[in-house]
Amino acid sequence: MPPIAPQRKSGLTMADPKATKRVQELRRQLEHHNYLYYVLDRPEISDAEYDRLFLELKELEARYPELGSPDSPTQRVGAEPLKQFVQVRHLQPMFSLANARNDEELRAWHLRVTKLLAEKGMDPAGAAFVSEPKIDGLAISLVYEDGRLTRGATRGNGEIGEDVTANLRTIGAIPIRLRLGRDEKPPAVVEVRGEVYLPLAAFQKLNQQRAAAGEPTFANPRNAAAGSVRQLDPRVAAGRPLSIWCYQIGFTDGLELESHWQALTWLREHGFKVNPLVKQHHDLDELTQACHDWEERRPELDYDIDGVVIKVDSFTMQQALGIVGRDPRWAIAFKFAPSTAVTRLLKIGVNVGRTGALNPFAIMEPVEVGGVTISQATLHNEEDINRKDIREGDWVLVQRAGDVIPQVVGPIIQKRTGAEKVYRMPEKCPSCGSHTVRPEGEVVVRCPNRSCPSQIVESIKHFVSKGAMDIDGVGERLVDRLFRLGMIRNMADLYYLDPEELVGLEISHSVNRNGREIPHRLQARSVGKMMDALDKSRQRPFHRVLFALGIRHVGSINARLLASRFHDIDALMAASREEVAGVEGIGPVIAEAVKEFFGEPHNRETVRRLRAAGLRFEAAAAELAGAGPLADQAFVLSGTLASLSRADAREMIEARGGKVSGSVGKGTAYLVLGENPGSKLARARELGTKILSESEFLKLMGR
Ligand code: IVH
Repeated sequence: MPPIAPQRKSGLTMADPKATKRVQELRRQLEHHNYLYYVLDRPEISDAEYDRLFLELKELEARYPELGSPDSPTQRVGAEPLKQFVQVRHLQPMFSLANARNDEELRAWHLRVTKLLAEKGMDPAGAAFVSEPKIDGLAISLVYEDGRLTRGATRGNGEIGEDVTANLRTIGAIPIRLRLGRDEKPPAVVEVRGEVYLPLAAFQKLNQQRAAAGEPTFANPRNAAAGSVRQLDPRVAAGRPLSIWCYQIGFTDGLELESHWQALTWLREHGFKVNPLVKQHHDLDELTQACHDWEERRPELDYDIDGVVIKVDSFTMQQALGIVGRDPRWAIAFKFAPSTAVTRLLKIGVNVGRTGALNPFAIMEPVEVGGVTISQATLHNEEDINRKDIREGDWVLVQRAGDVIPQVVGPIIQKRTGAEKVYRMPEKCPSCGSHTVRPEGEVVVRCPNRSCPSQIVESIKHFVSKGAMDIDGVGERLVDRLFRLGMIRNMADLYYLDPEELVGLEISHSVNRNGREIPHRLQARSVGKMMDALDKSRQRPFHRVLFALGIRHVGSINARLLASRFHDIDALMAASREEVAGVEGIGPVIAEAVKEFFGEPHNRETVRRLRAAGLRFEAAAAELAGAGPLADQAFVLSGTLASLSRADAREMIEARGGKVSGSVGKGTAYLVLGENPGSKLARARELGTKILSESEFLKLMGR
């Protein structure tokens, strides 16, 4: 009988000791680089290097499953969706905060604190305070046992919250293990509290994407953060670039600290993201100043704050002051002017975009929101208006978050009189009066008239914009003005402007202190610059010109595909619908748009005049040689693709002149999303890289 194989006691004994060591080393390194990137915002290695380490770890873990650990950086994403959240009791209740709405209330709080301390036999003159931003996000608690993150929960009712560990693990700024010094022993238990938030830019982008997809938009960054953390599928949270500010230590076992300032220092030293602008103070004047400083700084921040939290520093003093109800006496929230306000929605107006899309917006009675007067707000699309049941004449709640475009949150139903009007998108274009259309399956209503003045102005703005002809010196305001004056009627007219007519032209005016209008006129110098910029644009390659024409569905990639297949505009214009649709990556919808565009006599005339003005309507040999439609476009493949192998995908990309790289970086054009994408997805979201699903990728490849 063969000898019985030794029982596996601890999995670790099976793996080669070298692999065990390497795995530990890689985890340590990856967590360190995560920390540099997400917490300190100071990465030291490139994405490519990070991905190399990540991949090496993943491969080792796959080869030696016994080395697997829930604490591994590879385990941040990819957890299975949950059926429901488990309720958990916090080790110590999570308190709320009493408010101070102005300097006077802050002074009253300070007075109460100092009096009470004196009554308790403490010297109030020795009291120090700490000021911190009051983050408008989602409060959470993180429990670390023996240095490892074992549980993360929402605040819930303060006593009991929901276990959202899998979602919180996906947040790069949350350490999975405490950062410990050499030979440092972690406390047996430490509960860390903080606020999860979605950066404002990410919020705006998320809402734009949702509106375009016809999905409901989030009312504010806080809802978006809360919605992401309270998702049963951790991949949703993983796809949103959430972050955290940590501001408190709750229950501890094995940690001796004397003050809040020491707690913040401990947090910072152990890998947590603590706001670098928190400050210590010693008197009321300093505190008041700190609150005003934060209010002033608010518009520059990339996260939303709704006030400043002031805390008594010493834990002994905190203990002496105690808690009333849910609010500790030792802390107060100085609240800013609310970033929401109620006002009357007078009317719903509509802008017409370059492709004819009608974009509704609210025209409101001017109201001050967060220190700024607003009278307009975006309304996304008709579906969004109906979903929120916003009617003309409604009293509405409006909201501004940092410098995000103001939004209408919803109507105040109780204030309805019955005179409010349900909104319908106009049947006629507000710019040209043409009958509008809403193509089946789309959420957007359009003006079909290609010579609609709004569409023309917007298309000229597109023509001069950065990604297109990039004509600096011709800004949006100037385009508006020249169009209104009848000096340009289409993009070609730009090249036929007479500089002499432009010099001295009034482009705007301001009103001086005495109420007199002061006209602003174009100076000879700016006209000179404008002419130079126009001249330079004559050298832009054919595919840029093609993109700048603004043909529907012809973005920069499609323009490249068309330019490299047809070489010049004559061939493209002469091509049949089938020939255009037959180009890899194009397809019938784009072909239809191309044919329709060149079918219009006035578009052909524009092309003729642009050509006569010296623009390039044929691809230079260099653009064609080895280039292909995807020249210089870097793709990153992530996870497993369902319908093709990585090698096939690579071949397809390379055949079109693109290249494939291993990691997402600033130069990455697309991330192709497979199953189990790993860390690349989070990185791509962070950098705003365009993410393609497998089917979108195949479409781009013309399959
Ligand atoms: S301390 C005293 N500090 O505000 C313990 N809370 O109104 C209370 N919040 O539920 C928490 N920023 O969600 C504290 N720097 C900060 C905060 C902060 C935001 C939130 C937190 C809490 C709520 C209380």
